[in-house]
Amino acid sequence: MELAGSTAFVTGANRGLGRHFAEQLLERGAVVYGGARNPDSIDLPGVIPIALDVTDADSVAAAAKAASGVSLLINNAGSYTGASVTDGSMDDIRLEMDTHYFGPLAVTRAFVPQLAQHGGGAVLNVLSVLSWITYPGYSAYSAAKAAAWSLTNALRNELAAQGTQVSALHVGFMDTDMASHVVDSPKSDPASVARLALDAVEAGDVEILADAGSRHVQVGLAGGVVALYPQYA
Ligand SMILES: NC(=O)c1ccc[n+]([C@@H]2O[C@H](COP(=O)([O-])OP(=O)(O)OC[C@H]3O[C@@H](n4cnc5c(N)ncnc54)[C@H](OP(=O)(O)O)[C@@H]3O)[C@@H](O)[C@H]2O)c1
Repeated sequence: MELAGSTAFVTGANRGLGRHFAEQLLERGAVVYGGARNPDSIDLPGVIPIALDVTDADSVAAAAKAASGVSLLINNAGSYTGASVTDGSMDDIRLEMDTHYFGPLAVTRAFVPQLAQHGGGAVLNVLSVLSWITYPGYSAYSAAKAAAWSLTNALRNELAAQGTQVSALHVGFMDTDMASHVVDSPKSDPASVARLALDAVEAGDVEILADAGSRHVQVGLAGGVVALYPQYA
């Protein structure tokens, strides 16, 4: 899909990766709506702020009504609670699922008619290498990102008829607030990740692997559980 002249809606556009998406889409000649829980926190001149909490059905409906002509939806908003599935709080575990699974599901459904009216357009779901592998400290987040991976595949199947391209971005740690607790692992530059992902959407790629770690784990999927978790060999 061509980004110049498109109209994009980015969730969580006020900071982190989403802000880079919004900035670079503007540079590429798109009209950009920036969804944010606090629209006053959108500080990029040219981005049209729209109030959006992806976990709130009324907010999602109002955001879709406030925007028009959207041909690219980027489901970027994300939360990280650090909750464990065995002893974390159920509220945190539900928040991860609400933000990463039910949120993008509701937002995508709300924008499907606009995408259809504009030649099908495209959806980019920001997933993670943790859609495919999990570690202690990331289990509730990983489960939600795994659900979002399946959702992405399902949306691709079900929106193909209206010509909507649905892409998944898999990425490891990036240098944003979400990964500020990470001090002993390399982190990708979110501006570079946004650039790579937008190039890939423009090229029609449906699966976008942003780093070596994501490529390594994707290969490991074919080896079954013990390829990714050798401790169970
Ligand atoms: N950082 C990493 O290492 C990493 C790695 C792989 C994948 N990811 C994914 O990349 C995406 C962007 O994350 P990031 O690294 O840019 O994190 P970030 O800097 O923490 O930004 C998260 C963004 O999501 C927004 N958000 C959270 N809950 C929301 C809700 N209910 N409704 C609307 N917006 C909401 C936040 O808005 P507020 O300002 O209102 O909180 C903020 O704009 C996420 O999907 C994340 O899971 C991140």
